[in-house]
Amino acid sequence: MGAPGGPVSIPEKVRDLMPGMEPISFSTMAIRKQALKEAGYNPFLLHACDVLIDLLTDSGTGAMSSRQWAGMIASDESYAGASSFYRFESAVVDITGFKHVIPTHQGRAAEHILFSNIAKKGDIIPNNTHFDTTRAHVENQGAEAKDLVSQEGLDLEAILPFKGNMDLKILQELVEKVGTEKIPAIMLTVTNNSGGGQPVSMANISGVSKIARANGIPFYLDACRFAENAWFIKTREREYASTPIKDIAQEMFGYADGCTMSAKKDGMSNIGGFLALNDDELATRCRNMEILTEGFPTYGGMAGYDMEAIACGLYEALDEDYLHYRIRSIEYLGEKLISAGIPIVQPTGGHALYINARAMLPHIPPLQYPGWSLQNGLYLLGGIRGVEIGTVMFGLQPDGSEKPATQDLVRLAFPRRVYTQSHVDYIAEIVINLYEQRNLLMGYRIIEQSPVLRHFTAKFEPAE
Ligand code: F0G
Repeated sequence: MGAPGGPVSIPEKVRDLMPGMEPISFSTMAIRKQALKEAGYNPFLLHACDVLIDLLTDSGTGAMSSRQWAGMIASDESYAGASSFYRFESAVVDITGFKHVIPTHQGRAAEHILFSNIAKKGDIIPNNTHFDTTRAHVENQGAEAKDLVSQEGLDLEAILPFKGNMDLKILQELVEKVGTEKIPAIMLTVTNNSGGGQPVSMANISGVSKIARANGIPFYLDACRFAENAWFIKTREREYASTPIKDIAQEMFGYADGCTMSAKKDGMSNIGGFLALNDDELATRCRNMEILTEGFPTYGGMAGYDMEAIACGLYEALDEDYLHYRIRSIEYLGEKLISAGIPIVQPTGGHALYINARAMLPHIPPLQYPGWSLQNGLYLLGGIRGVEIGTVMFGLQPDGSEKPATQDLVRLAFPRRVYTQSHVDYIAEIVINLYEQRNLLMGYRIIEQSPVLRHFTAKFEPAE
């Protein structure tokens, strides 16, 4: 224990007896200043033990339940035909209804296998908004990743229920203009991570499906956060108010021909994913590629215990009490920030809250990275780690020049089953306190960067 009145820390001996619990390390601003400087002012390069509240991502960072751990202990690690695979497969088939389940080590591996098998140079893949790995895999095949999110989804502050919806009119026009042979698939990301974690309505999923089926184009869901999306459908689309979440999820998948999935999100697992689809011939080709890149088709880059964790986690993600608590926590943080006058993306999303850094820090020009400044300010003031989604992430052009991204946001993503209301109260206090001193925040300049995905490794210094 710490000194009376000082911070309370859990003794190491006790900590070792508490599986699933992470110690919170209290640090001073001086310690954090030094840590951030040593990390080249890039929070990705911090040691996690120097972070107090880690909101970098909701991917693989959740706490697993005792039921998941119990399944993991009893896993079957056979190379081929493990019973853990069949349990995993039957959970995926039960919830999605798809015929073929191809396990992968995470979501982007499913994207790699899918797009290598369906897309080629000159093709176009429409999506509401491609997540960055999805976009990269589409572009890696020479195809164009086209974002068709509705106009409402681009308005950061409009309070509307389904800002992740795709613009059906523009989709229809695109299909008519370029022809079906140039569109090997249509995709919808639920919820729309790159668009503020906003949900897609059942009406919109069904509408996209109608256009796809009328034109013989396969339709896939990027299903990472399918359970959170189902929760929004239940609470915002009137006719689903008394439908169980699992039935809503099944209906969502029923409109599609397949999905890619990162089980690190609504699979409640620390690692894993899958590609699921109905097309027999495509499944054979995908499995052949899987053997080359991931592993035998009954493990595909996962251990038997990972598949056990997902088999259980997919159902736990559909639990209404859990979903209610999770989505309400983020909404609660949003209410506190809005009442302090802080510009955030509204309504709050399913897995994260997004602060509009460009609006909050108008004195920092986009090319001095207001989002970066805000995320570093949150770390320095309160040990909170978020992630910039803005000009550092998207501003570097293929010719080496730079231009401001459409938006400069900071995402505070919530790990699943990790933080409680007192953590959320602390986060709110820090963000509000930082907002009150926002004029003191300064921009940054990059002193070292890689030509692709620079945000992960770039080094910075404060701009004068
Ligand atoms: N699609 C979406 C919508 C995602 O949010 C992610 C990952 C992926 C695909 C790729 O999955 O990481 O398992 O390979 N999103 C994480 C995030 C990294 O922080 O938003 P993966």
